[in-house]
Amino acid sequence: MGKVLVAYFSVGQETAKTAKMVAGVEHADLFEIVPAVPYKPGDMEWLSKTSRVTVEQKDYFCRPKMAVPLANAADYDTIFFGFPIWMFDVPKIVYTFLESISLSGKTLVPFATSGGSGRRETNNKLKEYFRDKPVKLLPLYELNGMSRQDVFDWHKRLELK
Ligand SMILES: Cc1cc2nc3c(=O)[nH]c(=O)nc-3n(C[C@H](O)[C@H](O)[C@H](O)COP(=O)(O)O)c2cc1C
Repeated sequence: MGKVLVAYFSVGQETAKTAKMVAGVEHADLFEIVPAVPYKPGDMEWLSKTSRVTVEQKDYFCRPKMAVPLANAADYDTIFFGFPIWMFDVPKIVYTFLESISLSGKTLVPFATSGGSGRRETNNKLKEYFRDKPVKLLPLYELNGMSRQDVFDWHKRLELK
């Protein structure tokens, strides 16, 4: 499986909690995707047509800036990346992260937390995004309220090298 990184984006800390558990189970390094401009509560109103998240999520080309880049991506063979599902999609800053490093030949393991809308639509978006890219993308997994044992069980089912 080589060297493993768990990268995550989290505003409300739910995904952060999960990512830390995953990093423990995988004996992985941990990297937080921190936005250059933090998300304030008013930015998160996804029912408003003009809030920051709505504007960003609806803009195909939007790539919010990260505060700090990942410097040593080449060290990792497997990258887990975790995020909250936002409007059935991946938060755009996660794409900023994915495009900031060379992913060629790596195994990518996405996981998410959500309010319960399901992962199918988001998984399809990821599959479409990575179509024709030289990576091994595993299916998106939802880790809502998972225990460490649940994360272990998930690990055992993963098709990791
Ligand atoms: C802007 C925004 C959009 C969201 N969209 C969805 C959604 O489409 N489906 C869903 O199940 N939950 C949705 N949620 C709920 C979050 O995915 C959920 O609360 C997640 O665990 C938050 O993770 P965090 O605490 O790491 O930020 C949304 C939350 C926010 C703030």
